[in-house]
Amino acid sequence: MAAFDLWWQDPGAEGFPFGFAIDASHEVGKQFLPEEMIGCLARLREARSRVGGGAEAQRLLDGFLDCALDKHEGRYDYATYCALKVLDFPDDGTGFHDPAGVLEQRDLGLLALMGDLLGFELDALEGRAEILPLMRPGAELGRRRLRLTLAALRPSLDRAGLAIHSDEPEDAARNVLEAIGPRVSQQMRRRLAASMLPVHVVHDEYLFLRVLQGFELSFAWIAVSLWQAIDAMPSAPATSLGWLHLANQLLREVSRLFPLIGSMQPAAFHEFRRYTEGASAIQSAGYKTVEALCRRPDAERLDSPAYRSVPEVQAAVQEGLPTLEDALAAMNEDPEADVALRGEIEAELAAFARQLLRWRQAHYQIARRFLGDRSGTGYTEGLPYLDKGRSVPVFRAASLRET
Ligand code: HEM
Repeated sequence: MAAFDLWWQDPGAEGFPFGFAIDASHEVGKQFLPEEMIGCLARLREARSRVGGGAEAQRLLDGFLDCALDKHEGRYDYATYCALKVLDFPDDGTGFHDPAGVLEQRDLGLLALMGDLLGFELDALEGRAEILPLMRPGAELGRRRLRLTLAALRPSLDRAGLAIHSDEPEDAARNVLEAIGPRVSQQMRRRLAASMLPVHVVHDEYLFLRVLQGFELSFAWIAVSLWQAIDAMPSAPATSLGWLHLANQLLREVSRLFPLIGSMQPAAFHEFRRYTEGASAIQSAGYKTVEALCRRPDAERLDSPAYRSVPEVQAAVQEGLPTLEDALAAMNEDPEADVALRGEIEAELAAFARQLLRWRQAHYQIARRFLGDRSGTGYTEGLPYLDKGRSVPVFRAASLRET
């Protein structure tokens, strides 16, 4: 707390001592932060305008307070649990012009997030980890996790020209960490540190959080790609096709995170889940945006917990969010549209629908394994909710139906 008091005498966002709150969260869990610390952060929140500094540092500080004080301020939800504001993923489709550039940015983000997880698991395996000491996985499981993390990263590593030189998971992890290190900027390091505020001190919550963040990163970039595809479809269908191809690739690759989350120890999951009530990915604006950019959700789903849990996406849909289905319909009515390209676009959309269906299936299986007949943390009845959602068509048109 001394670090905070010193900083508070002349507060600038760049110099904020994140460490004092992050360390406490790692020592006792966000659920159990000491009153004194909450007091410091609440004092800062009340007099937030006293803090000077650049826009980037200010945004990071606000994101951090949003996450660190969520339980105290009664705002705890999925976005604050995952520290999504700290990570600052793109939240609209404007300003991106090139699928290759987007892929590179997504890859870098994934390497940073999952590289951080790799480092944590390696430290635990080799006896160096001090934080989140409860229910440490044994050596066999630890090594399996390294393999699964590396497998999830494989496409991004290949594209970045970072080969894995060993079959031994510890050596391979060390190689990869050395190679990724120089690519992760100082700013990203600060974001990584400030985005790991587990509610409890169970080892597996680290994995859970980083995997959720990895999915969210990908949903955000998939949404960017779909926005761009919709935008380009009327005037530049070949460009639109390129964006759709990217969206498909990202959705396919992110599913590599499912086996990794499947390596959580069920007892460990249930131990930290005691404190995550109210935070559920039913509140994932990224996932629902992807869904709603495909087509307008049916009225019944739009006015149900599925969209009531993401009011900003619900409002965007009600205000007429553009969709791939509408863009394609317009292309179908255009007598001058390139028929061959239209066929390729349809094929890419159908592939996306199939991929999303696979995603739902894999998610359903994970939920079934870890939850059984327990209810969800998003106040649904759990599996029956997901079961119903599995069959919601991604597109209405018969030609695009996932089969
Ligand atoms: C042990 C792992 C997991 C379990 C037990 C689980 C369970 C559930 C449950 C029960 C729901 C229904 C809403 C609720 O009441 O909470 C749900 C929704 C959802 N989950 Fe998961 N989940 C898991 C992992 C993940 C992961 C890794 C992601 C990736 C971001 C994810 C994304 C989603 C999404 C997007 C929804 C909303 C689906 C919709 O509204 O149609 N889940 N999950």
